[in-house]
Formats: sequence, C-alpha cells, structure tokens
Amino acid sequence: MALDAALNIFRAIGEETRLRIMVLLIRGELTVSEITTILGQSQPRVSRHLKILADAGLAERHREGAWMFYRTALAGGDPSCEAVIEAARAIGASGDRLLARDAERFEQTRHARAAQAAAYFEANAGEWSRLRELHLPEQDIEARILAQADGPMQLFVDLGTGAGRMLEIFAGRYENAVGYDLSHEMLALARANLDRAGITHAQVRHGDLFSLPLEDQCADVACLHQVLHYLGEPGAAVAEAARVLKKGGRLIISDFAPHDLEFLREEHAHRRLGFSDAEVADWCAASNLKLDKVETLSPSPGDKERLTVKIWRCLAP
Ligand SMILES: C[S@@+](CC[C@H](N)C(=O)[O-])C[C@H]1O[C@@H](n2cnc3c(N)ncnc32)[C@H](O)[C@@H]1O
Repeated sequence: MALDAALNIFRAIGEETRLRIMVLLIRGELTVSEITTILGQSQPRVSRHLKILADAGLAERHREGAWMFYRTALAGGDPSCEAVIEAARAIGASGDRLLARDAERFEQTRHARAAQAAAYFEANAGEWSRLRELHLPEQDIEARILAQADGPMQLFVDLGTGAGRMLEIFAGRYENAVGYDLSHEMLALARANLDRAGITHAQVRHGDLFSLPLEDQCADVACLHQVLHYLGEPGAAVAEAARVLKKGGRLIISDFAPHDLEFLREEHAHRRLGFSDAEVADWCAASNLKLDKVETLSPSPGDKERLTVKIWRCLAP
C-alpha cells in the first residue's frame, strides 16, 4: 500500500509539465488560468496535470466562485510528498533555463496582479471610505476589533493601512504606531486623516506588507483589516506579521467569511472571496501563531449585498 502510494507520487512528478507546475506552486499560490498563461499550454491540458498532482497529494486546490486556486500540499502531510516537494524546490533553484523562464513569467503574473490592485486603489482612494460602507456596519466592527486588542501597546503596526482608519481608532491605546501601504494616494489620504484627528504619535510609510522594514519581534499588535482578500498570498502576509510580533503579541485579522459575491472581483479587485476559519488556522500554524479567538459578525437576514465579517485574533507564543 505504502509502496503503491509512493509510486503514485513519483509518477505524478515524473513528467516535465507537472514538474514545472510543482516548481511554480512552490513559488506561490496560482489560479489555473495564471498557470496556463505562464506555461503557454492549453487550459484542459494544464487542468489534467493539476488533477494528477492533486490526486497524488502533492498539490491542494480550492474553488472560489469561478476561480480554482492551487498551491503545494502543506507541510506536515505525507513524508513522501514532502520529500518530493523538497526535491522540486532544489530543482527550481538549479538555474535550468526553462524553469528560469517560468520563474520570470511567474514574477510578471505577480506584478500584473499587484498593478491591477494598485490601479484600483489609486482610482478609488478618495472613494474608499464610502466603498467600505457598502459592505459593513463599520462602527460595530470597529468596536469589536478594539475589544480584541486590549492591554497596553508600545508599538502598533497596521499593514495595508489605506486611509489610516485603524491608526485612528487605536490611537488611544498605543504609544507609537506605523501604518504601511503601497499606494501613495492612500498614504496621502491617511496623512490627511491623521492630521485632521490631531494624531501625532502615528506615522504612515510607503512599504510592502510582505517585507516590512521592521526588526523581528518589535510590535505588540499588528493589524490586517480588510487587506487579505486583495492579496495573492495571504498566508505570506500573516507570516510577515508574525515575524514582527513580540512574544505574547497579537495579530488582529478582520476580513470576510467565504461568500459568493463574484462582482467584488470584477468591480472591486477582490482576489479572494473570503476565508474559512480553517484556512486562517493553517496560516497561523505555519507562522507559529495560535488562533486564539474568532468572532463572526453576520449581516441582517435577507440583506443579500452585505457580507459576514470575521475577526480572527492570533497570538504569538
Ligand atoms: C481595502 S484597503 C484597507 C485599508 C485599511 N486597512 C482599512 O481597513 O481601512 C487595502 C489596502 O491594502 C493596501 N495594500 C495592498 N497590497 C499591499 C501590500 N503588498 N503592501 C502594503 N499595502 C498593500 C492597498 O493599497 C490598500 O490601501
């Protein structure tokens, strides 16, 4: 039985396109259509290869509306799969020309994604506060977020700070705060909002939440509020937040529960249609955080255009 399973795994990886796909998935989560574009092969063909990798336990998939996402199997699974994934990682770093070209196209895909989101935010910076009101009863959610992060804070870090709303609502709690964002328009808006509120102990900085210009273990609380659903690799954002948290620090994530409002992708650049508790728990486990509390804020019954908001509190041990 174990021999059969191992043979299945080796057969799955023992083919050029599937090995290329595994090397790509090690770089990050991708949709079928992104993999198709990177490899320059037909979608049915790519889907067939992906199915073989998933059936062998090397890749995991999840559907969200019209999109199917793939990633490598999580660590801690079948040891043969882990060994094969490690081997694929080494092959990916070997400098092979074809794999290097795939890597280049992967980066182009990643940049295109980021540029699309950035263009949206630039275009909507002034409208952002109004857009948020379309989805959520803001005051209720903000009160619950504040309640999740009690206790004193020397440093509060807001990742994807946007118009700086989290810096504003936490202002009475922290000694110092810094908010990072990639959009200059949003940063301008945040600065204006902080000035208007007379908040001088918070600053906003241009910075990528995937590689924060902060030392390890410097922050008491980190916040990802309504950011993860725009990102290609939300788990990597959680890992970076975990890196900067002090021992005993807390990461507060607020985002949507899984939903099917596909128009948010087309009209509002959402990449992910919400997250399950299990997915957040997986990212926490991978980043050495403990998912400590989950709150669910449901819309009123019959309110179809509203979304269920979740607040996840994660502790750094
Ligand atoms: C929906 S807004 C949320 C803003 C804010 N957290 C709030 O709740 O008001 C998402 C923000 O994330 C920012 N963002 C997206 N990707 C980012 C990245 N890689 N690094 C930093 N900021 C990013 C966007 O520019 C945008 O301002």
